Amino acid sequence: MPVDVLVGLQWGDEGKGKIVDVLAPTYDAVARFQGGPNAGHTLYFDGVKHVLHQVPSGIFHSHIINVVGNGVVLDPVVFRQELQKLTDRGIDWAKNLYISRKAQLILPSHRALDRISEEARGGGKIGSTLKGIGPTYQDKIGRTGLRVGDVLLPDFQERYQEAVDRHATLAAFHNRELEIESLEADFFSAVDFLRALQLVDTEYLLNDLLQQGKSILAEGAQGSMLDIDFGTYPFVTSSSTIVAGACTGLGIAPRHIDKVYGISKAYCTRVGSGPFPTELHDAVGEQIRAAGREFGATTGRPRRCGWIDLPALRYSIMLNGVTEIHLMKADVLDEFDEIQVCTHYRAADGTETDQLPDYAALQTMVPVYKAMPGWRTSLQEITDPEKLPKELLTYVEFLEEHLNVPIRIVSVGPDRVSTLHRA
Ligand code: GDP
Ligand code: IMO
Ligand code: MG
Repeated sequence: MPVDVLVGLQWGDEGKGKIVDVLAPTYDAVARFQGGPNAGHTLYFDGVKHVLHQVPSGIFHSHIINVVGNGVVLDPVVFRQELQKLTDRGIDWAKNLYISRKAQLILPSHRALDRISEEARGGGKIGSTLKGIGPTYQDKIGRTGLRVGDVLLPDFQERYQEAVDRHATLAAFHNRELEIESLEADFFSAVDFLRALQLVDTEYLLNDLLQQGKSILAEGAQGSMLDIDFGTYPFVTSSSTIVAGACTGLGIAPRHIDKVYGISKAYCTRVGSGPFPTELHDAVGEQIRAAGREFGATTGRPRRCGWIDLPALRYSIMLNGVTEIHLMKADVLDEFDEIQVCTHYRAADGTETDQLPDYAALQTMVPVYKAMPGWRTSLQEITDPEKLPKELLTYVEFLEEHLNVPIRIVSVGPDRVSTLHRA
């Protein structure tokens, strides 16, 4: 049986958590392959909202194995909080949750360095979630990181101290101190908590499952436009958010991958700095933010809002080999008379392209839009995709035609049940 991979096609927060939760019952395992507590994946069911940061979004289904893969950067303090919240809500996660011994550990000093380096960037700051993501991946690539499995070593304390001493010299470069003393007791008690969990070589676990004919859903975090290689660099995160990241982040060979679910909003958002060509700085943008409750699930920051961007989506689809699109938050556009779709870009000299311009070219290019009629009716109660308003179906078909990928799910509300599957 295959591995199917679910990735965000935009700048994150597309609704990945909701769809993983919806699809999870048809899989034997759900596995996160990159990112860390910068992610905030929201799920709604039975009137309750859950936000997951590092725990895979299959955790609410008791028969499914949930794996935190080696590509993830794990903050034990945040992890313990998340798991405690699940326990408080009566979720029995313990027997189904496995963590890779090769995942990198986020230390309090990584978080401190994240803040220090953002402050040092001044006006050019990335808008990081300040969860320590960049510094932890820097240590991984620099071959100086601590891994989850290291917590089981007798000299973990010394290794920790060596890392902190190194981080202190980096902070000193900016004339700063780490100021983490007050956080260390909590960190070490969270490490004790982590030691008691199922820390394994998840690449063996996952490949054994495949050998037994079981199926795996790989859950991506962030989005393709935040990918370290292909995103709007340097305003990106520090991991491979595209489908290729699932291979390195889980230890799964490409030949096992079958479907690739690309998750996109019916419009577009971005949180943090960096280019966002279709961003709306007007009342329409405000209206999308209000209707879509576009505030970050991890940081609470208002998300920047704009229209859907087909050149950017086509780029993400190409990078990921998307086999089906899930179009999220269609209901957010219920009140609009007109919906705009960016179909291509135009330069000052009149030349046009339907490819995503690079960062430098973007400064001189403008998005060109096609206006489509809105549906001006509430989608919330609709349960049959055939009953969707004709204007929305026209919108969906227009996207399918210009993206050349079928839209198999239209999501019309945050709840699990507000998910329409199209044939
Ligand atoms: P993720 O990071 O991709 O999992 O997405 P987030 O959870 O950060 O952000 C998506 C937000 O949209 C969450 O608040 C979801 O509850 C919400 N959401 C997901 N799908 C829909 C939908 O179809 N309609 C509406 N109105 N909200 C949705
Ligand atoms: P999910 O999985 C949206 C953004 C940050 C910042 C940039 C770098 O919920 O979709 P980082 O903390 O990774 O160094 O921040 O990436 N970012 C996200 N934006 N959704 C996310 O995750 C994000 N994770 C990071 O806002 O611009
Ligand atoms: Mg999110």
